[in-house]
Amino acid sequence: MNWWFLALWTTLVKGWVVNEGTTCTLYPESLIYKGQAVDDAPSIQQAFDLCGTNGTVIFSENLFHVNSVLNTTNLLNVDVHLRGELRFSSNIPYWRTHAISVILQDQVTAWLFGGTNVTFHGEGGFYNGNGQEWYNANRNQSNQPGRPISFTVYDSTNLLVDNLRVIGPQFWATFVWDSKNVSFTNLFVNATSDSEWGTMNCDGYDSWKSDDLLVENATIITGDDCIAAKGNTTNLLAKNIYCEGGTGVTIGSIGQYAETPDYNMNITFQNVTVKNAMDGAYVKTWQGSRTWVPSNGDYGGGGSGLVKNVTFKDFELINVGLPIQLSQCVYSDNSDKGCNTSKLAVEDVKWQNIHGTSRFNIAASVYCSDVHPCPGIEFENINITSVNASLGLPYYDTDVDHLIWQCTNLLDQKHTGIPCNQAAPSNFSQWIYSNVDHTGLARSSA
Ligand SMILES: *[C@@H]1O[C@H](CO)[C@@H](O)[C@H](O)[C@H]1NC(C)=O
Ligand SMILES: *[C@@H]1O[C@H](CO)[C@@H](O)[C@H](O)[C@H]1NC(C)=O
Ligand SMILES: *[C@@H]1O[C@H](CO)[C@@H](O)[C@H](O)[C@H]1NC(C)=O
Ligand SMILES: *[C@@H]1O[C@H](CO)[C@@H](O)[C@H](O)[C@H]1NC(C)=O
Ligand SMILES: *[C@@H]1O[C@H](CO)[C@@H](O)[C@H](O)[C@H]1NC(C)=O
Ligand SMILES: *[C@@H]1O[C@H](CO)[C@@H](O)[C@H](O)[C@H]1NC(C)=O
Ligand SMILES: *[C@@H]1O[C@H](CO)[C@@H](O)[C@H](O)[C@H]1NC(C)=O
Ligand SMILES: *[C@@H]1O[C@H](CO)[C@@H](O)[C@H](O)[C@H]1NC(C)=O
Ligand SMILES: *[C@@H]1O[C@H](CO)[C@@H](O)[C@H](O)[C@H]1NC(C)=O
Ligand SMILES: *[C@@H]1O[C@H](CO)[C@@H](O)[C@H](O)[C@H]1NC(C)=O
Ligand SMILES: *[C@@H]1O[C@H](CO)[C@@H](O)[C@H](O)[C@H]1NC(C)=O
Ligand SMILES: *[C@@H]1O[C@H](CO)[C@@H](O)[C@H](O)[C@H]1NC(C)=O
Repeated sequence: MNWWFLALWTTLVKGWVVNEGTTCTLYPESLIYKGQAVDDAPSIQQAFDLCGTNGTVIFSENLFHVNSVLNTTNLLNVDVHLRGELRFSSNIPYWRTHAISVILQDQVTAWLFGGTNVTFHGEGGFYNGNGQEWYNANRNQSNQPGRPISFTVYDSTNLLVDNLRVIGPQFWATFVWDSKNVSFTNLFVNATSDSEWGTMNCDGYDSWKSDDLLVENATIITGDDCIAAKGNTTNLLAKNIYCEGGTGVTIGSIGQYAETPDYNMNITFQNVTVKNAMDGAYVKTWQGSRTWVPSNGDYGGGGSGLVKNVTFKDFELINVGLPIQLSQCVYSDNSDKGCNTSKLAVEDVKWQNIHGTSRFNIAASVYCSDVHPCPGIEFENINITSVNASLGLPYYDTDVDHLIWQCTNLLDQKHTGIPCNQAAPSNFSQWIYSNVDHTGLARSSA
């Protein structure tokens, strides 16, 4: 018996990992168990234990069943190659009770991944979250407890994820938390539901408490935020991004927790296409006091902090409900939403070269809190036309016959670079389902 067979034999006893020196190659249990969906998580865990320092982990070109949580953290100098399919089980009761906490909003994750000097290469393989089961179970609710984030990068430094494909994410597809210098390149996410229920909360990429981030070349098809820079995201560059469906790219939501201020600085979104979405390029903060919000399933508001030096540039928007937005009461469900009370300061936000079409008769709604009117809000080279106007049709169901640009509490408003032809009301909605009338409001449900 040569050493290779010996290694294979000994590792087979514990799971199917072929360990040659510092390289661990994974094969699925289903190859032994006649195609049954036997859980591969233990052998995956074992491969990272054996080869997670100065090593290489290869998922061979096979179907892997992941029926239990993965915690592959504290890696050091590791290269991961994903050549097969990782099919996460749709055992919803299991994930609801076992997924790993990520603290933020009491959310959880199915896979916690991270370390120092780590690369993850999708080489023809992909992550299959079995999302349809989750979309059906979720029934269009928001932030349903225990619905796991697909892939979370945690406590990491110098980490690259290239060519990751996430098909049918359970919830947010990717999340970067407590990390520094993390890049996602050539990311593909497709959350598409084939039932009557939507893909609410299937964000493409979210970041929290992380610095020095890159997202380059991403295609994200989703029912919620394409990219969301949550609290304490600094120095994020997101470029060459295609977003379809959902709610565009955003700073936020932030200001949810009074105990922890959020500082979001030096963020650039560049060369972004947003198609058939509710929002385009926007900033969303919570209002100034804490309230229970049924639609978000959470308490929130009262947080302070600062959004500073954010640039949205070179955007093409195609049929977007609210192309440009700054809201300081984004989840408040009250009729008086309290946008005027937010404690979160917003400064130096620029929208440059923003072109395209809006679904309704509104191009922008920019509302800064009465507590902190915003300095340095600038618009340059903005050309948005309503879909109707671009088709030569009149505005409908409304008493306003021109494109609306709402502004409230912008310092030096005359020089912002947009017409500011209507005041933004303090109870504007993140979601609108009709044209805006002279009150500045639209229907906020379908
Ligand atoms: C990993 O490699 C580094 C050098 O790159 C070395 O200092 C360290 O001892 C190695 N660790 C192990 C467990 O081999
Ligand atoms: C994840 O694994 C690390 C060891 O790498 C351990 O310290 C940590 O407690 C684990 N976390 C959870 C939630 O199991
Ligand atoms: C990570 O890689 C960098 C650059 O190659 C190197 O300077 C650093 O020592 C590595 N970190 C660890 C913990 O090995
Ligand atoms: C950042 O991480 C990348 C890997 O994605 C690495 O090549 C680069 O050296 C890191 N930068 C620094 C400053 O360590
Ligand atoms: C996204 O998934 C849906 C449903 O599976 C599929 O019809 C569509 O072709 C996919 N889009 C892309 C770009 O792969
Ligand atoms: C669920 O939400 C989606 C997307 O927002 C919508 O298209 C769909 O009609 C909603 N389903 C029901 C049953 O209300
Ligand atoms: C992103 O795409 C552009 C255009 O296809 C390409 O030139 C560039 O190398 C890609 N970037 C990465 C990091 O793969
Ligand atoms: C802009 O992004 C798109 C992907 O959405 C890419 O095809 C194109 O090459 C990018 N343009 C530049 C100038 O990088
Ligand atoms: C953000 O950073 C600030 C300052 O470092 C800190 O006080 C605050 O607690 C952090 N917020 C979060 C959400 O961690
Ligand atoms: C603003 O952020 C960009 C990166 O997004 C950075 O290049 C620039 O230097 C920052 N400007 C200031 C004044 O901090
Ligand atoms: C923002 O960018 C500027 C210029 O590069 C830098 O001096 C500053 O430290 C950055 N701010 C943060 C919070 O990283
Ligand atoms: C604005 O875009 C429309 C098409 O979307 C185009 O017809 C019009 O010429 C553009 N206006 C300017 C000033 O570029």
